[in-house]
Amino acid sequence: MGAVALTFVVVVSGIVTWVYASADISTVGTTDFGRTLNIPPLATSTVEPDGTRAFDLQMQSGTTEFNSGTQAPTSGFNGSYLGPTLRAERGEKVRVRVRNNLTESSSVHWHGMHLPARMDGGPHQMIEPGATWTPEWTVAQPASTLWYHPHPHGATEDHVRRGLAGLFLVDDAAASSLPLPRDYGVDDIPLIVQDVRLRDGRIDETHGAFRDVGFLGDQLLVNGTLAPHLDVGDELVRLRLLNASTARVHNFHFADDKPFAFIATDGGLLPQPETMTALRLSPGERAEIVVRMLPGERAVLRDSDVDLGTNFWTTRFSGGDDRFDVMELRAAAQLRPSPELPTHLVAPSTPDGSDVATERHFSLTFGKINNAEMAMDRVDATVVRGTTEKWIVRNDDGTPHNFHVHDVQFRVIDYAGAPPPAELRGAKDTIYLPPNTTVTLVMRFDGPSDPNTPYMYHCHLLWHEDLGMMGQFVVVEPGQSAGTPTGHHHAN
Ligand code: C2O
Ligand code: CU
Ligand code: CU
Repeated sequence: MGAVALTFVVVVSGIVTWVYASADISTVGTTDFGRTLNIPPLATSTVEPDGTRAFDLQMQSGTTEFNSGTQAPTSGFNGSYLGPTLRAERGEKVRVRVRNNLTESSSVHWHGMHLPARMDGGPHQMIEPGATWTPEWTVAQPASTLWYHPHPHGATEDHVRRGLAGLFLVDDAAASSLPLPRDYGVDDIPLIVQDVRLRDGRIDETHGAFRDVGFLGDQLLVNGTLAPHLDVGDELVRLRLLNASTARVHNFHFADDKPFAFIATDGGLLPQPETMTALRLSPGERAEIVVRMLPGERAVLRDSDVDLGTNFWTTRFSGGDDRFDVMELRAAAQLRPSPELPTHLVAPSTPDGSDVATERHFSLTFGKINNAEMAMDRVDATVVRGTTEKWIVRNDDGTPHNFHVHDVQFRVIDYAGAPPPAELRGAKDTIYLPPNTTVTLVMRFDGPSDPNTPYMYHCHLLWHEDLGMMGQFVVVEPGQSAGTPTGHHHAN
């Protein structure tokens, strides 16, 4: 080998080593939790004469002061960053007037909601600038922590990262009759966790070298607040965690590994609380936990030691070695007593897999599902209304992915050849898939049918979704076949 070539190899491997060595991040122990946690306001609503609960959401741009003294351009709903928490009761009819005050078209998808395809807010329900889209549906699912965010094909990562996201809480009689913390913002706390990178006070969007998962930030926001604290006045505190990061998989635990009760997955309450010390959530997933506080205690919620199931190289460049202090819970010197947690919560609502009509296979590779990129006018799966299906999903790639299905909640009946771990034993709409792992999901499609309007399934690492790692299914009546979805449907 010539001297020049040798020098080249040495320089390149030096650069790679430097990139590798500087690719992990830690905010552990350097955070003072000086800011007070922002709590997204509950959305106001009006009840119309026919009983419909009506909400108003305005998509708008503005600026946000994440660090004092600098204003970052951001977007939000009814404000400059994130959005209000919508809340409705099972059985209630809801209507949301969504006005797009942005300078570009977008959409608003109700992640986790069971609803007609035309109301889903995916890439077929685009809202032009200045237009208003008014979906309505009847809430028909158990109490749960759902969320909403834009879904414009090819630009979801960008719209979500700018701040367009909010929570939608469903209540029902079964959940309300249980002695669980339920005072919003007091002992029932929404935590929208996102990673962000601020450069000169602005949100930076650049993907770093070797970041096959997409964008990874170097700080965490909780409800739009950098490393906040929350003053707590009750013995038991319920935390509703949402991973709203665009690519990062978080592993939440307390700094002292204090145990907590895990009570709900994406689709609602578990049959019984599970005692856990750490919880992995990939983008789009939610979990509800209940933490017992001691008088005067300071409990630091941390995100570290995530198990991505990847090799050392991919782990490093997928954020797997990063460590964050997320927030601090500060208990008052005297706490209001809370009732004991119930030992039983609610019966499972997802099918158990005993009545499967159709089995489908999905192979995830970089930017593709079943070797194809998303096409707006191609229906990939036609599902008969009222049937249960088994979806066998495999990550055939060396990179982390996850899998989200619109309209339904599924049950995980097999995870990598074994029964699912505790954190996956509830109703789910999104699941993490380490490389070379297969999961088996069962779900029932209760309709209504609409052969012409597809729902999506996709990787919820939003850059992957934008690249085309998404497919479409329609729900039809028995004997009916799929129609032809239009390229776009625009509300204006
Ligand atoms: Cu959270 Cu297809 O979405
Ligand atoms: Cu969704
Ligand atoms: Cu992916």
